[in-house]
Amino acid sequence: MAYDKKRTALLNRYPAIEDLAKKARARIPHVAWEYLQTGTGQETLVNRNRKAFDEIILTPQFCKGPLQPKIETNLFGKTYAAPFGIAPVGLTGLMWPRAEIHLAKAAARNNIPFTLSTVATETPETLSPYIGEQGWFQLYPPRDVDLRKKLLVRAKQSGFHTLVVTADVPMPSRRERTKRAGLSTPPKITPRFIWQGIIHPTWSWYTLKNGLPRLRTVETYSEFDTMKSVGEFVRHGFRGDMSWDYCKALREEWDGPIVIKGLLHPSDVLKAIEIGMDGVVISNHGARQFDAAPTSVEAMKQIVPVAKGKIKLIMDSGIRSGLDVLRAMHLGADFVLLGRAFMYGVCALDKYGPDHVFEILTDELRNSMVQMGIEELPM
Ligand SMILES: Cc1cc2nc3c(=O)[nH]c(=O)nc-3n(C[C@H](O)[C@H](O)[C@H](O)COP(=O)(O)O)c2cc1C
Repeated sequence: MAYDKKRTALLNRYPAIEDLAKKARARIPHVAWEYLQTGTGQETLVNRNRKAFDEIILTPQFCKGPLQPKIETNLFGKTYAAPFGIAPVGLTGLMWPRAEIHLAKAAARNNIPFTLSTVATETPETLSPYIGEQGWFQLYPPRDVDLRKKLLVRAKQSGFHTLVVTADVPMPSRRERTKRAGLSTPPKITPRFIWQGIIHPTWSWYTLKNGLPRLRTVETYSEFDTMKSVGEFVRHGFRGDMSWDYCKALREEWDGPIVIKGLLHPSDVLKAIEIGMDGVVISNHGARQFDAAPTSVEAMKQIVPVAKGKIKLIMDSGIRSGLDVLRAMHLGADFVLLGRAFMYGVCALDKYGPDHVFEILTDELRNSMVQMGIEELPM
């Protein structure tokens, strides 16, 4: 009862993801907001990602009697409560301390996948008690094969059953906004940083309790123990070696579904099918890597005719509502991921945030399906 009251109050106060984004922006330091929001270059792709979704028109049909939309979705032999999951996000604790713990618990409660990033601020072992059957693990491909094997074993032993290997970071991208905002690893305690701490007291209090964010999964492998050195270690040790042979090796090493994330070209998707990947994420990394890339909507239009039904097509980049989820599935996506939307939820509402994002998205999705006159998701 108390929970229902809180839920209704939240739905009235923050009815859409953009309400959570506004609240998140007010609650976290400027540098953390810039890290979360930034694209790259002129950020034309940030805007194109949104525009591409807004331009998908769906024509409703009426007089279908009472409709009970079904949104449960099967993926890789599991039934999830909805056709969406939480995308991997790195340096999460900078934006909100303990973010991964709140996200993992909410994913388990709501039965949707949560993807833990290689460069998250909590480890697979820490999340293991909370994640239930919902854990996916994202790998930035380490150059060192031993290190790769160690990470895969840790993820598997901690209960993460689906591997997401990210292909679209051949080198770190230029994120001009984060430079202007003064992002550094470790965060430098400058007068500007202290002032930001004073005007964002809840964030500061949680950060003091939890300590400054650390890349806890990978720091144990760095020879050095300062975050700066760990950051350098990640920049040099986890990029650039990705190749189709590398993917083949992963296919042999990982016993479970593998998804390759960040593909946009139809030929790359055909190659992923050829080497036995189970899924691909059609994604431009939320516009954070290459400003001239196509939107995932544009890419899907090229990829669906050659790949639909041969491999699971997962889509992300720019999804901000349940209506966008339906639009993605109308294009041919089997499943979608959301990065920033879930982070807005955590930054705005702490542990209540991810459940609230789930509520908004599922409510909007059901509503949109009834408006369209359909009970089944387009498949
Ligand atoms: C702050 C931030 C950090 C991210 N970190 C990672 C990461 O560590 N690994 C990865 O594969 N993708 C990462 N991504 C990309 C997301 O997984 C996802 O592709 C993207 O957020 C989707 O776009 P959306 O934010 O518009 O939903 C990150 C995205 C954001 C916003």
